[in-house]
Parts: sequence; C-alpha cells; structure tokens
Amino acid sequence: MLRTLCIFGAIAVPFVSAAKAPAPKEASTFAGSTQTFQFPPPNVTVAIPDPDFPNKSVVGFPGPTPTGDEAFAIETAPAIAELNNISPIVRPDTADHEGEDFDVVHSWGNLSPAISIPAGTFGLPDASPIVPAGCSINQVHILHRHGARYPTSGSAPAAFAGRVHLAANSSAGVSFSGPLAFLDTWTFKLGAEILTPLGREQLYSLGVSSRVRYGDLLKGFNDVPVWRTTSEERMVDSALQFAAGFFGVQQYQTSYHQLIEIESQGFNSTLAPYDQCANANNAISNLGSTASNAWAAIYTVPTIKRLSKDVKGYNLTATDIIAMQQACAYESVALGFSSFCELFTEQEWKDFEYFNDLSFWYSNGPGNPAVAAQGIGYVQEFISRLTQTRITVFNTTVNGSVVSDATKFPLNQPIYVDASHDTVISAIAVALNLTSLASSGPLPTDHIPKTRQWIVSNISPFATNLVAQILSCPASDTPTHVRWILNDAVVPLTGIKGCREDVNGLCPFETYVKGTQARIAEVDFQFDCFGNYTVPSPDVIIDGRFPPSLRNGTSA
Ligand SMILES: *[C@@H]1O[C@H](CO)[C@@H](O)[C@H](O)[C@H]1NC(C)=O
Ligand SMILES: *[C@@H]1O[C@H](CO)[C@@H](O)[C@H](O)[C@H]1NC(C)=O
Ligand SMILES: *[C@@H]1O[C@H](CO)[C@@H](O)[C@H](O)[C@H]1NC(C)=O
Ligand SMILES: *[C@@H]1O[C@H](CO)[C@@H](O)[C@H](O)[C@H]1NC(C)=O
Ligand SMILES: *[C@@H]1O[C@H](CO)[C@@H](O)[C@H](O)[C@H]1NC(C)=O
Ligand SMILES: *[C@@H]1O[C@H](CO)[C@@H](O)[C@H](O)[C@H]1NC(C)=O
Ligand SMILES: *[C@@H]1O[C@H](CO)[C@@H](O)[C@H](O)[C@H]1NC(C)=O
Ligand SMILES: *[C@@H]1O[C@H](CO)[C@@H](O)[C@H](O)[C@H]1NC(C)=O
Ligand SMILES: *[C@@H]1O[C@H](CO)[C@@H](O)[C@H](O)[C@H]1NC(C)=O
Ligand SMILES: *[C@@H]1O[C@H](CO)[C@@H](O)[C@H](O)[C@H]1NC(C)=O
Repeated sequence: MLRTLCIFGAIAVPFVSAAKAPAPKEASTFAGSTQTFQFPPPNVTVAIPDPDFPNKSVVGFPGPTPTGDEAFAIETAPAIAELNNISPIVRPDTADHEGEDFDVVHSWGNLSPAISIPAGTFGLPDASPIVPAGCSINQVHILHRHGARYPTSGSAPAAFAGRVHLAANSSAGVSFSGPLAFLDTWTFKLGAEILTPLGREQLYSLGVSSRVRYGDLLKGFNDVPVWRTTSEERMVDSALQFAAGFFGVQQYQTSYHQLIEIESQGFNSTLAPYDQCANANNAISNLGSTASNAWAAIYTVPTIKRLSKDVKGYNLTATDIIAMQQACAYESVALGFSSFCELFTEQEWKDFEYFNDLSFWYSNGPGNPAVAAQGIGYVQEFISRLTQTRITVFNTTVNGSVVSDATKFPLNQPIYVDASHDTVISAIAVALNLTSLASSGPLPTDHIPKTRQWIVSNISPFATNLVAQILSCPASDTPTHVRWILNDAVVPLTGIKGCREDVNGLCPFETYVKGTQARIAEVDFQFDCFGNYTVPSPDVIIDGRFPPSLRNGTSA
C-alpha cells in the first residue's frame, strides 16, 4: 500500500527510505511532521443501492426474528454492571514502573475515557445507581459527553510536533536518545476535533448499557423519542453511535428523532452555551490556564532536568512537558498506544491530573464567575421537563424556538438523552449546585492538597455521563424523588436548599424543584456573562458566580 507523508508546507519524504537507513545520529528531517491518510480512496464512490450488492430487503431470508421483553437492569439487577471500556488502549507503564494499582489512563483529566467510578467518590459509599429498595424509576435524563476525539484545533501536542520538526529540519539539527529516542522518527498522526474509533465505541457502549439498564421505560412513550446533540461532527457522530447501541444499526434511524442544535457564535444552545457568554471568551475564561500554568512551572522542573539529558539541540520547557503528557493521552485514545506515556513517573501523572483539575476549576468549574451562568440554561430546561411547564422567559442560553416547539422539545418523555461537551457538563454540575464537588474549596497552585473532590477525570472524561433518575417511593405513576448520578457514583444533593442528607442521594421531588428554582433565581446570567468586573484575587469563588457582595450595590 502506498503511504505518503504530508509535511507542513514541505515536500513529502517516503517513510520507507528512513526505515531502511542506518540508525541516524540525528533526528530525521521529517521528525515531528504531520502524517495523514484518507479512506476510502478518492476515486471510489459507493453507490446506494448497488445492484451488485443487493440490500437485505432484496435478498430476503432473514431467519426468525421474534422479539423479547425490555431489559430493566436498573431495577431488576442486584448490582450495577460497571462500564470499563478502554479496550483498544494498551495499558501504559510509568517511567518508574511503580504501582500495580496505578493506571496512567485514569490520570488524563478530560482526556481520560469514562469508566464507572467507585460508589463513595462523592461521599455516598452505600449508594448505587440501582433503584433503591421500595422505589421504582419513572424517568431518566442522560447527559453525556462525546467520546474520545483528536486534539482540538491548535492543540499543544500539534504545536510541540511543529517545534520538533522545525528543530529537526534546521541546519543545527536535533537528536534524542534513551527513552526519547523514538522522537528521531516520530511523526504526528493525529487530526483534529473528530471522534477516534475508541470514541465511537464509547458512545455505542453507553447506548447498549442504557438500553439494558433503562429499556423498560420505552413502554411509557406514545411516540418515538427526541434526543438532542449539537452540530459539530463529533457531536453528531456521538449521538448516532449512542442511538445505534441503544436501538441497533438496522433500527435506529426509524426509532427516534435526532435534534441537532447549531453550535456556533450567535446561536442559542444550552448544550454549547459558551458561544452566548462574553465572559466565557475573554480574560475571565483564562483563569484556569493561569492557575494550571503556575502549577506546571513548579512540577515540571525535575522532569525537564531528567529528560533534557536525552535531548541535544533543543531546550525542553514546561509547555513541552504538558504537550508530551497530552500527546500520551491523545495518541493512546486514537492509536491505541503512545511512546510518550512511559516517559513520566507515577507522581508526574498525578501532577498532570492536578494540572487539569486546576484548569477546569478556574475556567470551567466552581472557581470561575461565569460558569454557573453557562450551565443554568440546561437547568431551566431540566426543571421545565420535570414540571412539564414550558419556558416562556428567555434570559439565558436557552433557545426559544427549540423549547417552545412541542415536536422538538417534548415534555413527557420517560427517557431524555442530550449530548454535550466536557466544559459544559462541568458548568451544569456547578449550576445544579452539586456542591460536594467543590467541598474541598479553592485549589492551591503550588501543591496538590491532601484531599480534593474536584477531579476532572471523574467529572468530564470522554463519554462522561451525568444522569438524573426520577423515582417514586413507593412505586407509583407520580414521581416523589430526584437524584443525580455521575459516572455511576451517586452525588449528594445537600447543596440544594431544602434537600437533606440521604444515603441514596435522594431529595423529595417538590423540595428539589423548589430548591433548584431558587438556584435558577440566584444565578444572574446577564451580569456574570456580560458584566465588566474584576475577579477577586485570590479567587475564592466556589459556586461559579461573581460574588454578589462585591457588586457595589449595582445589579444588572
Ligand atoms: C526542511 O527544510 C527545507 C528548507 O530549509 C525544506 O526545503 C525541506 O522541504 C524541509 N524538509 C522537510 C522534511 O520538511
Ligand atoms: C483508483 O485509482 C487507483 C490508482 O490509480 C487504481 O489502481 C484503482 O483501480 C482505482 N479504483 C477504482 C475503483 O477506480
Ligand atoms: C433496498 O434496495 C431496493 C432495490 O435497490 C430499494 O428499492 C430499497 O429502497 C432498498 N431498501 C433499503 C431499506 O435501503
Ligand atoms: C435556535 O436553534 C436553532 C437550531 O439550532 C437555530 O436554527 C436558531 O437560530 C436558534 N435560535 C437562536 C435565537 O439562537
Ligand atoms: C538552550 O538554552 C541555552 C541556555 O540558555 C542556550 O545557550 C542555547 O542556545 C539554547 N539552545 C537552543 C537550541 O535553543
Ligand atoms: C438567546 O439567548 C439570549 C441570551 O444569550 C437571550 O437574550 C435571547 O432571548 C435568546 N433568544 C432566543 C430566541 O432564544
Ligand atoms: C448553592 O450553593 C451555595 C454554596 O456554594 C449556597 O450558598 C447556595 O445557597 C446554594 N443555592 C441554593 C439555591 O441552594
Ligand atoms: C429568568 O426568568 C425567570 C422567569 O421570570 C426567573 O425565574 C429567573 O430568575 C430569570 N433568570 C435570570 C438568569 O435572569
Ligand atoms: C471595563 O472596565 C474597565 C475599567 O473600568 C475599562 O477600562 C474597560 O474599557 C471596560 N471594558 C469593557 C469591555 O467595557
Ligand atoms: C466595585 O468597586 C471597586 C472600587 O471602585 C472596583 O474596583 C470594582 O471593579 C467594582 N466591582 C464591580 C463588580 O463593578
């Protein structure tokens, strides 16, 4: 098979000749260059229908196809079947070969694949996603992230590749040795933005698992479901993969409606609210990178020193270390393996995880004053669905034309499925006032605190799922309780006015609705998203809002 190298503004060099050459003392001139491949070949078009390949209706003979009853594992199974889906990734070793228990794959923050996390993660060790004894489930709301993707445009690993290539192809040259020797012939094989094969599998699996857990709720539909995603390619792909897993590949197109909301500047969507919030796109949104970079400047010092022994002709920086740790994650979720992973010790992976936690806390979490405002539109929609009351005042990122239309935004579905992004799901968790995630307080930038609840690989990994169960206890047609479950760990609702401690994370329905309406009322979308304010330093915000006490008596 013919393989060509596409190199940043340069002539293609065949890979083969480099492989045959004697081991180079210097990095190859193509080191760090970008390599891409297209399939199917450009001169091939698949005709549908194609008389050579008649479809199943033409061929016939499908065999017997009797159907069975719906699964309802969420009520009938004695325990939850865990999601643990990282199978295409080879589990990486660490540089210090430490820890049988330590798995690098789960320290990549928002670049980790989602798994079921331990029941006690958020403080309720005895709670399970299985419906508590004496209750039944009336409704489920599934909010999930897209699956594993390539880096976003202009990513740190792509920029790192560019720097390596520039150095490798300069007259001075560069050379790598020891564990870094692979860089001499390394090429950048990642595109941008779109799902990887693992990403497709994650959403397919989530669809399968959701059908086995909640399938029985389909009996409450008198029309097909309407599920939502946004217009980005990976978002549409993720939603379709979920549907294929949930309904089957021959059935999904005729089993539900996929609503695709436009994700772009100037379009309202609660699944992509940052496009309609000025303070999510200026210096205020950079608080996270300031904090995480301060931490990186500390923790990467010994790493740079160690790895620099194996580099000649290039000076490693903290930016390179972060880029290489990200490259480990991105190559693993796209290619199944990455030589970057084993460059780092267990401690350096924990440091990297904390880097992501800082970034999300201060940009997309409890520490950023414009975050509750971004998440609150989804919370309004959630309450609208719970109370079967249409939203009539449009004062957040809710899209008036979508939610006013009963065809596009039905209020009587037993199963809701919405697809969104990492930063949005963390903003929604803040808007919902899931305060246990913030209980360890503002995160320091000079050390990792002994305890912290804000861990991004638990909150916003690839294919993360934040699920609301609407229950009746005892079983009836009228909901009596609400609870939230994040990656199969039940989240306490004690941050919501009126909700008491409960071992199963339950809050009475009316209390929950009232408390959450109070939360909606306390979030000032206009001021937090569009106010011209200075964030207090140190930033001690823990509920994602600009502190009302600092507003000088003005209200927006
Ligand atoms: C290396 O740089 C030269 C210009 O300095 C350019 O002509 C050549 O195509 C580059 N080679 C590669 C492999 O990028
Ligand atoms: C596509 O082009 C390749 C190379 O020219 C050729 O070998 C192949 O037969 C073509 N395929 C089709 C389906 O035309
Ligand atoms: C199957 O193929 C037949 C004949 O080409 C076509 O009329 C029909 O629409 C196809 N059915 C499906 C489900 O694609
Ligand atoms: C509402 O969403 C639809 C579908 O994405 C879009 O066409 C429309 O422009 C949106 N309206 C507003 C006000 O953003
Ligand atoms: C690396 O840093 C040293 C010390 O600052 C400097 O002398 C050298 O030129 C730098 N090398 C490269 C390749 O930038
Ligand atoms: C769109 O969102 C803005 C707030 O960003 C709001 O003022 C406006 O009313 C919304 N429009 C519609 C039609 O949803
Ligand atoms: C949300 O949580 C904050 C603490 O972070 C609390 O002060 C506030 O009262 C809560 N809001 C509601 C409506 O429960
Ligand atoms: C939006 O309007 C609703 C209904 O009037 C009100 O309850 C809510 O507090 C308002 N929210 C914002 C962010 O202004
Ligand atoms: C925000 O306020 C500062 C100082 O009060 C002012 O210099 C700046 O122009 C304002 N920015 C905007 C976008 O209004
Ligand atoms: C409140 O007033 C102080 C002092 O004038 C100013 O620095 C600060 O930016 C103001 N805060 C807001 C939110 O306008």
